[in-house]
Amino acid sequence: MKIMVVGGGGREHAIIRKLKENPEVTEIFALPGNGGIAADAECVNIGAKDIAGIVRFACEKKIDYAVVAPDDPLALGCVDELETAGIPCFGPRKNAAEIESSKVFAKNLMKKYGIPTADYQVFENAEAALDYLKTAPIPIVVKADGLALGKGVVVAMTREEAETAVREAMEDRKFGDSGSRIVIEEYLEGPEVSVLSFTDGTTLVPMVSSMDHKRAGDGDTGLNTGGMGTVAPNPYYTEEIAGQCMETIFLPTIRAMKAEGREFRGCLYFGLMLTKNGPKVIEYNCRFGDPETQVVLPLLETDLLTVMRAVTDGTLADCPVRFRKAHACCLVLASAGYPAHYEKGYEIRMPAETLKHVYVAGAALKDGRLITGGGRVLGVTAVADSLENAIAEAYALGDTVTFDNKYFRHDIGQRALQALRRP
Ligand code: AMP
Ligand code: GLY
Repeated sequence: MKIMVVGGGGREHAIIRKLKENPEVTEIFALPGNGGIAADAECVNIGAKDIAGIVRFACEKKIDYAVVAPDDPLALGCVDELETAGIPCFGPRKNAAEIESSKVFAKNLMKKYGIPTADYQVFENAEAALDYLKTAPIPIVVKADGLALGKGVVVAMTREEAETAVREAMEDRKFGDSGSRIVIEEYLEGPEVSVLSFTDGTTLVPMVSSMDHKRAGDGDTGLNTGGMGTVAPNPYYTEEIAGQCMETIFLPTIRAMKAEGREFRGCLYFGLMLTKNGPKVIEYNCRFGDPETQVVLPLLETDLLTVMRAVTDGTLADCPVRFRKAHACCLVLASAGYPAHYEKGYEIRMPAETLKHVYVAGAALKDGRLITGGGRVLGVTAVADSLENAIAEAYALGDTVTFDNKYFRHDIGQRALQALRRP
């Protein structure tokens, strides 16, 4: 079977590695992939937003199955176009991807169907939003409606911060059209949990839960990033809470999408906050998370391609999905300065043994050598019988990787560890 994976980061590297475990898979193409992914797939220089180019390539190569991983091509209708061309795909169609690409759509869906989330208001002009902020409770959260590379959310601790966020999005158009509408919502408190799920629109199978570390600095300080590390499972996500989420959030969401004529097939990601009033949705993503995937897929026991095809065929109910009872930790090694300015082009070295644990996010090949090529350079994932060991092994592996300006957080998994130790 010839497989095509659209995207080129650590998440795609993890997906490709897992797909390769299936002996039926003979060829894998990554569009565009990256210098590290090139060790596991044939990288093709077609960007993830070049929908016409992607479809042309898939037809020329007679691709048997496609996986569209990033938000942008999903929001642009890549799956719809591939399906029209007769190529079976993993990923939601454009109208279902809107659950991520429009926060206004997602919030209105939750309100209409009684799915627990933060209270909110939608604004289409800055004046009305600023007026509302004069008397709104603080802290408060300001979110750009559209995709903004994970930077469209401001958790404002003061009224001034909230006003600045509104002005930047609506007057300075910091996020372009993505900020022409904004959501202003209630500030929620509690531990955050990421739950990725497989769904064919009717059946939903949650994957093992995980915990992201979004801030750049130790102790959750500094700027928001795409994610500096993850652990799985998330100890705050007990069986009782999982049951509650299934009843009040997961199933109601896929039923709501179906009722709206937007059946969701693919990976639906629930960003949850466990508040004292129960679990609430912070955000939906229409795709695998990055770097959540780098801890979730290594724990998947079932063959990934089999599960993905069951999602596409609408037969997920008949496909058992199992996860290992183990712990995983992914430590992201980044370029110092990320997510703001950073240098790239430095050689990356590591022992061959480490390579098996590495998912490359941003690197290029130059004269046969791997060089840094992004803010997040790579993630090292360790799987162990305890969270403590998984963290220790991930850090030990991280130590064996060298490149100039290497930067990482020192406390990935520490909060989870504390939660486990609490009686
Ligand atoms: P998002 O891009 O929607 O995941 O938001 C980024 C981060 O902002 C989340 O991971 C939360 O830590 C925080 N956040 C988003 N919405 C809220 C909220 N209503 N209350 C408190 N924190 C929030
Ligand atoms: N790690 C968060 C995300 O993929 O959106």
